Amino acid sequence: MKKSSGAILCLTTLAISGLLASCFFSDANHGSSRADAAPLALPATHILEESVQPVLAVPNLDPNKIELGKKLFHDGRLSHDNTIACATCHSLDKGGTDQAVHSTGIGGAQGGINSPTVLNSGANFVQFWNGRAATLEDQVNGPTHNPKEMGSDWPEIIGKLSKDEQYPAQFAKLYSDGVQPANVRDAIATFERSLSTPNSRFDKYLAGDENILTTQEKHGYRLFKEYGCVSCHQGSNVGGNMYQQFGVMANYFKDRRTPETDDDQGRFSVTKREQDRHVFRVPTLRNVALTGPYFHDGTATTLPQAVEVMAKYQLGRPLAPGELVDIVMFLQTLTGDQKGKS
Ligand code: HEC
Ligand code: HEC
Repeated sequence: MKKSSGAILCLTTLAISGLLASCFFSDANHGSSRADAAPLALPATHILEESVQPVLAVPNLDPNKIELGKKLFHDGRLSHDNTIACATCHSLDKGGTDQAVHSTGIGGAQGGINSPTVLNSGANFVQFWNGRAATLEDQVNGPTHNPKEMGSDWPEIIGKLSKDEQYPAQFAKLYSDGVQPANVRDAIATFERSLSTPNSRFDKYLAGDENILTTQEKHGYRLFKEYGCVSCHQGSNVGGNMYQQFGVMANYFKDRRTPETDDDQGRFSVTKREQDRHVFRVPTLRNVALTGPYFHDGTATTLPQAVEVMAKYQLGRPLAPGELVDIVMFLQTLTGDQKGKS
């Protein structure tokens, strides 16, 4: 890999993670170059350590709204045939996902895209793989109306919830206009914002407990930074704060050998701009040990498989087997406390 030649080039090559990785590296080494085959010397790099931050503290949320939102999130009546709740596809016992390649909606309908975790979803800058919902509130309109998910609509949902013995009084206490679509959305979004997962071993390490990670886990974290994973997976959610192409260094979709679907088009589906084809919101890596199978198409069954694909298609470099293991070990330290878990 060629060494990049300066800060301006570093900034203008944000999307080309391999170069960015070498930008980070040369910053850390005051411009010294790195030979491809040479083992990495891994310096302590404060700037890089700040690229990943602890889970955000949950903002002040009304506990009554959280409780109502939690009930709605688990209520099948948000679906046409009363069988599918948000929690069916985002189980809090399964890391906020369904742990399936694709989700199954009402009447056994098969969706075409992997269910992302709702844990820490309040800290993502937009919602959905292609970012088509700006907020958690907007997002709720998606699954409730999707014929392959919940297949319902607001008049039907409000009709059913209004007949419940408890909901009308519960809503009236919190919202002057009672059981209304906007209030359902508000309560569910408030509940989702409460689903942050603090106290991961990695966050304890960031807070200064240096001995809480093993040597291998620390090495994995260093590689994660040095190789440039952190150029895309960063911030408090270790992802969720930018769009990036899937297949920066090689054509992932061609190599996959299955026909491309609408769901593979990513951000292009929203903007119709050619440069947005195959561009996705970078997913969070918080709790990633629990949220497989991986990628929007669910093709990576295990975490090592997912990391191998990332190294090839996003970084354009193979990882030595030991490096792969260490990066996976680091990723496993990102599992935090799961509040909603039963
Ligand atoms: C049938 C399965 C299914 C049901 C039911 C379902 N979801 Fe989802 N959810 C998905 C899938 C699949 C996606 C990804 C869709 C996409 O990005 O195009 C998703 C995406 C999301 C996201 C975005 C997360 C992210 O990181 O972008 C949130 C938040 C979410 N769902 C919350 C909910 C809520 C709230 C409900 C109930 C009102 C719900 N879901 C019902 C399967 C489901
Ligand atoms: C150029 C940006 C970029 C770089 C560099 C990058 N990733 Fe990713 N990563 C993404 C995008 C975009 C996705 C989502 C791809 C998809 O499913 O469409 C993703 C997905 C993942 C997933 C799957 C998460 C899930 O919930 O499905 C893992 C795990 C992952 N990356 C780890 C890594 C590791 C480890 C590295 C470094 C070896 C890395 N990534 C480098 C952009 C990047």
